[in-house]
Amino acid sequence: MDFPEGFLWGASTAAHQIEGGNVNSDWWQREWGHLPGAPVETPSGDAADSYHRYPEDMALLAGAGLGTYRFSIEWARIEPEDGWISRAAIDHYRRMVATARELGLEPMITLHHFTNPVWFAREGGWHADAAADRFARYVEAALPVLDGVDLVCTINEPNMVSVLADPEVGFPSIGLPPGVPAVTDRLVDAHKRAVDIVRAAGARAGWSVATQAYQPEPGAEAVAAEYGRSREDVFLDAARGDDWIGVQAYTRTKIGADGPLPIPDDAERTLTGWEYFPPAVGDGIRNAWARAAVPVYVTENGMATADDSRRIDYTRGALEAVASCIAEGADVRGYLHWSLLDNYEWGSYRPTFGLIAWDRETFERRPKPSLAWLGEVARANALR
Ligand code: NOJ
Repeated sequence: MDFPEGFLWGASTAAHQIEGGNVNSDWWQREWGHLPGAPVETPSGDAADSYHRYPEDMALLAGAGLGTYRFSIEWARIEPEDGWISRAAIDHYRRMVATARELGLEPMITLHHFTNPVWFAREGGWHADAAADRFARYVEAALPVLDGVDLVCTINEPNMVSVLADPEVGFPSIGLPPGVPAVTDRLVDAHKRAVDIVRAAGARAGWSVATQAYQPEPGAEAVAAEYGRSREDVFLDAARGDDWIGVQAYTRTKIGADGPLPIPDDAERTLTGWEYFPPAVGDGIRNAWARAAVPVYVTENGMATADDSRRIDYTRGALEAVASCIAEGADVRGYLHWSLLDNYEWGSYRPTFGLIAWDRETFERRPKPSLAWLGEVARANALR
């Protein structure tokens, strides 16, 4: 199975999940983080210390034969106080871009990956009327980091951000509820403004949507369609006219007449509790391509498991689905695995998604066989 010429192969991360010490973010200071009684198993702490160790992490990625690194820059570091821009943080992320380039990696930059500066959260977060203005101002301030960068993701999984804006909902691990409509509108507004700013600076902008295979039982087609519409389609439709759309996919949800059905007891589950279902990414691509009609990049896909050979099985299955979509005519231009490193999975370090493990005390990196395997696929630009 050959992939198209120029197809991007790589891996993704997010700042809060790997950098460590993200002390000015809401995920550190507010109800999910380091406060006593926070409803998380473990706070993020030093994470993988990739804030300091990124050259080593990028070198492992490049050395394996992968050519693209998607990482996020942290708004809480760049604008730790309302209206105050940290030159040092901008310089840090510029050095990351320069390091990627020196290693022959194409950097793909995410501007917002779930975390907010704590001041933004205190002023109402995405519920505030000024949210899109505040985000646009941050994007302007971050432009020096994007110098020479081709692909920019404005907001990671806006559908998840919209869900998280509902105070009644904790961080959902499965069964994504619909988002808060007013927040969804603000996110779309913030995205479109960021697209204009980023495009004017010469990069191609899009956003990455959390997708799932919503599979109806016979007779439940309309229920499944409505389920997907409120959770995904509004965000995919908003990507029409953008430069690209990012698809992130992990699993499926079967839908019956009354909504989602429980995962059967005999189904294989991953360490996040999700059903093992590699073809999910194909459903995400087909839906995104049909709705947004712009080039598709798989910006996240992977499996939380302690069994690395199962990660390879999963990824092979997912890549077969990607190849089928391409054969059907979808314009898919890249596959970025989640994740480069084992990381902070929003409350716990247990679900290990990484192509690279690391020692929790020494931070020593330990590449897994899946890193070399995916690197081989990338070098061949083919699945053999
Ligand atoms: C999507 C999110 O963007 C990422 O932060 C998360 O770790 C993975 N999915 C796995 O849950």
